[in-house]
Amino acid sequence: MGAIHAANLRRHPDVTSLVIADVDRQRAQEVARRLDASAADSVDEAFTSGTEGVVIASNTATHAELIRQAARAGLPAFCEKPVAADLSEATRTVQEVQAAGATLQIGLMRRFDAGFLAGRARVRAGQLGRLHTIRSVGADPDPPPATYLSSSGGIFWDALIHDFDLLRWITGREVAEVYACGSDAGPPIFAELGELDTAMALLTMDDRTLAATTATRCNGAGYDVRMELCGDADTIAIGLDRHTPLTSVEPDAPSPPSDPVPGFLERFASAFEAEIDAFLQVARGDLENPCDGREAVEALRVAEACWRSQRERRPVPMTEIAGF
Ligand SMILES: NC(=O)c1ccc[n+]([C@@H]2O[C@H](COP(=O)([O-])OP(=O)(O)OC[C@H]3O[C@@H](n4cnc5c(N)ncnc54)[C@H](O)[C@@H]3O)[C@@H](O)[C@H]2O)c1
Repeated sequence: MGAIHAANLRRHPDVTSLVIADVDRQRAQEVARRLDASAADSVDEAFTSGTEGVVIASNTATHAELIRQAARAGLPAFCEKPVAADLSEATRTVQEVQAAGATLQIGLMRRFDAGFLAGRARVRAGQLGRLHTIRSVGADPDPPPATYLSSSGGIFWDALIHDFDLLRWITGREVAEVYACGSDAGPPIFAELGELDTAMALLTMDDRTLAATTATRCNGAGYDVRMELCGDADTIAIGLDRHTPLTSVEPDAPSPPSDPVPGFLERFASAFEAEIDAFLQVARGDLENPCDGREAVEALRVAEACWRSQRERRPVPMTEIAGF
């Protein structure tokens, strides 16, 4: 992810100098060479020498400390989701950022996708009437590497987090209760690591809208991120077009996609660009933060409730999950 953000920063007309840092110095040097940027000798060095903002895209377990380091240095920070590897660490980190008056934007990039923006606008304008049902799909064609899986925080924390964020962001409502289940029946690596390859969560919003969110790491047909928003006046689909890896067996249906979206980098390329452009404006004080740490922690609270629900096989009210 770091290389993607770096490439978007490099192309941005407002960025005059770009420094790449990684604990793996060789990796930083490779990316810097490719982008005609410079590589820092150490991660600490990237926080000094005239830096005006920091984009953090390291492994999840390192986010909280790097966010704190940016806040201590008085630098606005953008950090990839999730804020931290566990909820109490995420909450503490965001509280510290707030207390320091620092700027933190979290990379929940689906908020910048044209389809999700259009869907949200219709919901907020009342065009669907009373929203009664939301269905969302998040499907990766292949599992990530084992090293990523073992440090990702699991499917609710790492993948469904996007859906939980979107539910709140689109509807403007809070999640009241969740019931989640999961399966590790896919490739053996999931059971070996104690991870789930497929999961599902039923959520009741505080206005009694019902949402069903699904995620899998094993979708042979391709990368598929979709949402259906159903109201008593209209129903709309986000992410359903000629690239969606979905085949209808009905005789009059369009033919299956010949060029399904290969992965999240292609599906959300414009959204990744837009969130970085927004961060530069936020850092300058020209734009209200479109996804601050508190928002990101709210989505993590839902992920935590789902994990508890799946583990304990029971509905979990959000009142059980500690907040700010
Ligand atoms: N928004 C999205 O849809 C999305 C998609 C993929 C990954 N991510 C997030 O991006 C993050 C990185 O994922 P990735 O797939 O790029 O991982 P990756 O393992 O490919 O890259 C992480 C890099 O961070 C470096 N690193 C580790 N500790 C560091 C530290 N303390 N300081 C500086 N660099 C350090 C590693 O050497 C490595 O080069 C994860 O937190 C993940 O959740 C978000």
